[in-house]
Amino acid sequence: MLVVEISQPGGPEVLTPAERPIPEPGPGEVLIRVAAAGVNRPDVMQRKGAYPPPPGASDLPGLEVSGVIERVGAGVTEWRGGDAICALVAGGGYAEYCVAPSPQCLPVPRGLDMIAAAAIPETFFTVWTNVFEGGRLQAGETALFHGGSSGIGTTAIQLAAAAGSVVYVTAGSDAKCRACEELGATKGINYRTVDFVEAVRLLTNGRGVDLILDIMGAPYLDRNLRALAMGGRLVEIGLMGGSEAPIDLRRLLARRLTVTGSTLRPRSVEEKGTIADALRQQVWPLLEAGTVKPIVYRTLPLRSAAEAHRLMESSEHIGKIVLTVL
Ligand SMILES: NC(=O)c1ccc[n+]([C@@H]2O[C@H](COP(=O)([O-])OP(=O)(O)OC[C@H]3O[C@@H](n4cnc5c(N)ncnc54)[C@H](OP(=O)(O)O)[C@@H]3O)[C@@H](O)[C@H]2O)c1
Repeated sequence: MLVVEISQPGGPEVLTPAERPIPEPGPGEVLIRVAAAGVNRPDVMQRKGAYPPPPGASDLPGLEVSGVIERVGAGVTEWRGGDAICALVAGGGYAEYCVAPSPQCLPVPRGLDMIAAAAIPETFFTVWTNVFEGGRLQAGETALFHGGSSGIGTTAIQLAAAAGSVVYVTAGSDAKCRACEELGATKGINYRTVDFVEAVRLLTNGRGVDLILDIMGAPYLDRNLRALAMGGRLVEIGLMGGSEAPIDLRRLLARRLTVTGSTLRPRSVEEKGTIADALRQQVWPLLEAGTVKPIVYRTLPLRSAAEAHRLMESSEHIGKIVLTVL
């Protein structure tokens, strides 16, 4: 089968088309004939050598795919050959065939094509578990999502707005801010021209927001704490600006703040299966009704994965970049 491998840590040019044997599904796994594979920022980090696959995972990049089940492994009863699915995987998505644990597969939502379906798993699993589980966002609360136009951001905006929360986002241009507002954000804050702490203060009449989903890490830590309301939660899911920063603990005590975070990839199949069940119950109806949708910015053929990474690193995109295989 055709795959794209990381020949060595480096720039987009290290993404190299190659031939490999089709993998075998083990017990509890399915073999997927891949139609499309989503590209995510963690793939870029893996390519640079900064995010190695967890033990036992494929060394190939690619954390999500859509396609048709070719074969099921021993003990799989919920799926069979021919089913159209999308799946969260711990690696191996940049390939014509990919193996996925059965609990991490979900049906392609009615009304969506394979390209849209491939753009769902990584950001929907991540947003669900960090915004609604870890971050405990409730209807009527306010949230600030950094990187509103990212794959994660465009998902978080729609899910939080659908859940009845007021959403603010930061983004790097006025055009991106407008795109986020069209998706349901009450206000986009252009972080290049406006201080987001001050903007949040004005937008919330001095109260602050209940939840911040952060992707920048260190350089935003203190400003994030200052932008939170009493009882506010800061959830770290990305450290694009660095991981170590001083913290003034008085801010936590004075306003009963919570700082937490998580990464999805190393979590167990069982935990990911639990998230998949929640998505199927609570989010699949929204996807099938068109209330929320994956935002696909551009598709490129699998062989052009290097170009897809260049595009992602340019930050020109709004939403997701998807590799097409079939
Ligand atoms: N913890 C987890 O389980 C998990 C899972 C998936 C993703 N993530 C993380 O979530 C983040 C978003 O991932 P994604 O796949 O959605 O990526 P993405 O679409 O490439 O989004 C990254 C966003 O970051 C912004 N950005 C880039 N460089 C920046 C900088 N120097 N300063 C400020 N903003 C910058 C860009 O928008 P602007 O033009 O507005 O700057 C871009 O929209 C990444 O940090 C990724 O590692 C975490």
